[in-house]
Amino acid sequence: MQTDVYLIGTGQTRFGEWWGKSLKNLMGEAVDAAMEGAPCSALDIDFIVVANMLGETVSGQAHLGALASSFLPHRPPAIRVEAACASGSVALHTACALLESGRAETVLVVGAEKMTDAPTDAITTALMGAADGELDAPSGLTFPGIFGLIAERYMHEFGLTREQLNIVSSIHHRNGVSNPFAQFRQEIPAESIGASPLVASPLRLLDCSPVSDGAAACILSTKFPGKFRIAASQMSTDTVSITERPSITSFSATKDAVVRAFEEAGAEQNDIAHLELHDCFSIAALLALEDLGFAEPGRGIQWYEEGGSMTVNGSGGLKACGHPVAATGVKQLIDIKKQLTASGQRWGMTHNFGGAGATCAIHILEHAYA
Ligand code: COA
Repeated sequence: MQTDVYLIGTGQTRFGEWWGKSLKNLMGEAVDAAMEGAPCSALDIDFIVVANMLGETVSGQAHLGALASSFLPHRPPAIRVEAACASGSVALHTACALLESGRAETVLVVGAEKMTDAPTDAITTALMGAADGELDAPSGLTFPGIFGLIAERYMHEFGLTREQLNIVSSIHHRNGVSNPFAQFRQEIPAESIGASPLVASPLRLLDCSPVSDGAAACILSTKFPGKFRIAASQMSTDTVSITERPSITSFSATKDAVVRAFEEAGAEQNDIAHLELHDCFSIAALLALEDLGFAEPGRGIQWYEEGGSMTVNGSGGLKACGHPVAATGVKQLIDIKKQLTASGQRWGMTHNFGGAGATCAIHILEHAYA
């Protein structure tokens, strides 16, 4: 980073089914929670970046920058960013750019999504907006279908078995039990994952992140120092269509972003104590571990079978926490802050992607006093 950017305020709603709360209610709740513990006042916020994908489709609500600005007495300038499921971390990246440029000194980032008001088929169609509308969607693919193809190919290339894949969601659910903000807080044995209803072969219900409502907010500042510094904020993109890729068992945007993130932070894989990765489907967690350089190609499952010194999705990940798409990237940073606080370790990383890895944003958080 060209300047020190600190994470000075965090807050979120519990993720889940919030039929009695609007998109605006959820955003307001997360903003209030973030402001409550921050060392600055509302009047110190000089810019707001809102992340959201489905506001118009599900809630008939656009113009979310100004909507969020109305929560603060002085109505600071505000914009909305959209990058499908990566919207939250792209909003954080946008905030970092504003801070690095000197355009703002303290920025509020809000990621929010309301999904459960629409039936599953309508949400599935809406989420396909994150794929290529000309090359992918006309074949009838859905996101569970795209990741089903990826899982099928991965099993063919690397010999991963269904029994091995079961472990991934089972461990994420186990981690989610102690997270009060998680949508699902029950342990699910590995055998139950493989026995859950088939959604898109070979992926089953419990391989999939759920449809969720929720919001998360972070306050980033160059003016108010804090214990947590954004050591790296990087993003990369790839073709949106999976038909234009040489491989679907590896995402080049992740590989590209992580190299630049480690370079920016002056850290390396061995330094990371906590990782929150984007497990929209169980197979995606394995690709992420490999593309981020924590495992060799085809060996990501070893992290789940054997464990390691780094925690992976200690929050429960998207699988157990839920995945209100644009809130996820912001929530991941909050989880890493909590995990570094509890462990006293120095470095944590978030990995958040949109579509089938077409946009990937990575943040490295440094605990300054560790
Ligand atoms: N994990 C755990 N439990 C889940 C779940 C999930 N992913 N999805 C649903 N459930 C539970 C529900 O709570 C419900 O339990 P209940 O009967 O005790 O209330 C039950 O399973 C059935 O849920 P329902 O909502 O009827 O499922 P559905 O068939 O409408 O939707 C999916 C299931 C997997 C199709 C849907 O969650 C989905 O599309 N997920 C992927 C979302 C996505 O693509 N996100 C973007 C990623 S890139």
